[in-house]
Amino acid sequence: MNFIPYGKQTIEEEDVSNFIDTLKSDFLTTGLKVNEFEREIYEVSNAKYCVSVSNGTAALHLSALALLNEGDKVLTTPNSFIATSNSILYAKAIPIFVDICEDGSIDLDLCEEILKKDATIKAIFAVSFSGKILDKKRLQELKNTYTIKILEDNAHTLGVKLTYSDISTFSFHPVKHIATGEGGAVVTNDKSLYEKIKMLRNHGQDDKHQMLDLGFNYRLSDISSTLGLSQIKKLGLFIGKRQEVAKRYDKAFENTIVKPLYKFTETSLYHLYVVRIDFSKLDISKNELIIKMREKKIGLQVHYKPINKQPYYKNLGYGSENTPMMDKYFQECLSLPCYPLLSEDEQEYVIKSLLEVFSKRVQGTRNA
Ligand SMILES: Cc1ncc(COP(=O)(O)O)c(C=O)c1O
Repeated sequence: MNFIPYGKQTIEEEDVSNFIDTLKSDFLTTGLKVNEFEREIYEVSNAKYCVSVSNGTAALHLSALALLNEGDKVLTTPNSFIATSNSILYAKAIPIFVDICEDGSIDLDLCEEILKKDATIKAIFAVSFSGKILDKKRLQELKNTYTIKILEDNAHTLGVKLTYSDISTFSFHPVKHIATGEGGAVVTNDKSLYEKIKMLRNHGQDDKHQMLDLGFNYRLSDISSTLGLSQIKKLGLFIGKRQEVAKRYDKAFENTIVKPLYKFTETSLYHLYVVRIDFSKLDISKNELIIKMREKKIGLQVHYKPINKQPYYKNLGYGSENTPMMDKYFQECLSLPCYPLLSEDEQEYVIKSLLEVFSKRVQGTRNA
């Protein structure tokens, strides 16, 4: 059996031939494919505008510059890829890390408590963690009650509709729902945000090549957009396959020591399938389990180490926030392989290998 990673792209013959057609065409960088791909992304997001960019981090960077001013305070989650809060720092604004709920996403009730006490908070940067769509109703209530901007980092939830938030960002990194190599996008219904982000993406120039701001070259190429166009047609299929994997895992782990982060739900697009294991009751540590599974050619991952406890953030004075849910979650969380091409045999192998480790270990538990 080949190594089974936690995530992987699905590239088929059709993707390859479309890609080759573009390589043979006149445009490799900014041609018509970029516009076509952007249209697909705003349509699938039910948004008015889309700006494609070179990766999900660039999408966050430009969004943060468009939404925030220097010194703005922004509520965000410690349970994300570092790029989410880094984007707040890029804009010289101030991330404030809020604890998470049981499903791994930012606790919007805690956000509200903070918003009630501190009228200087300017925004929430939230993540639909692992693919479970954020509580849109709660987000809308917060936006209506407090004067705040809302950015949804939807790197784990391509296909989610834009409703009341100002901006939604995506990543098309190969482990995500569709792959363009590197790639990302911003969607919004706000024309002025759209125009600002489009201008920043292209060195800060407007359509007449006047430089109005200090921008970047964050453009997505026609080559990448071609891949995106051929991939996005299969988005529903990809999500369905991921959900099937999740259902099988959920069933297999019923009444075992391996606890799915949340019970199967159609509202999750399962970018990640996360389980929690209470290692305090076992004589094997999380790292030992990762190594053991790696020996069996299975890649487990940790999503995520709390961002506020990363060395760089600690140097900035972060790390001692009151985030008991996040701290416990981090002790227990592991992501299992979950992607459309994961065969049923491979799924069974992952399940069997994982449970086998525990069937041997349970006798060695301190509490058994
Ligand atoms: C939640 C989240 N935000 C942002 C990013 C950054 O995306 P990219 O790798 O395309 O820059 C990722 C990718 O890992 C992510 O998982």
